[in-house]
Amino acid sequence: MAHEAGSLNDIRAVLGNDIAVQSYRDGTRPFPDGAVIARLAYKYVPSEENNAIFGQAQSFVPGAPTNAQFSVKDAQRYADTGGWGFGQFEDGKPNRSAALMETCYPCHARAPTKDDFVFTHYTP
Ligand code: HEC
Repeated sequence: MAHEAGSLNDIRAVLGNDIAVQSYRDGTRPFPDGAVIARLAYKYVPSEENNAIFGQAQSFVPGAPTNAQFSVKDAQRYADTGGWGFGQFEDGKPNRSAALMETCYPCHARAPTKDDFVFTHYTP
């Protein structure tokens, strides 16, 4: 889980398929082919309902979804981008903007080499 402040102002969950989660647990890097990591993001909104129960403003919950991003490992197919294919969906539909897709790898390439272009660490 992560919270981005600033203009994004979202709350996000990162999920992996079995291959990705097993690699996380075993510390296997690079991730093997077939690993899929999903990042789901939602607006970060105060919960008046929960705050009423707590008696003070302290509760924030996911609001409307913003977008879902995916990293898919296939070392051969995505050889030019560190072995990862990237995708973004809004409202269940793929975002086909080439300009957007060109932003993913250069930024993920800034992750430490030992982390195989992935920023998120495993939370047991
Ligand atoms: C400006 C840098 C930047 C760009 C551009 C960017 N990411 Fe990320 N991405 C991050 C950071 C930092 C995290 C971890 C923090 C977080 O989740 O809030 C992350 C997390 C992720 C994750 C969860 C796994 C991981 O690597 O931590 C996925 C999946 C992901 N990004 C996909 C994408 C896709 C797809 C694109 C392009 C559409 C993209 N990212 C563009 C910086 C970036």
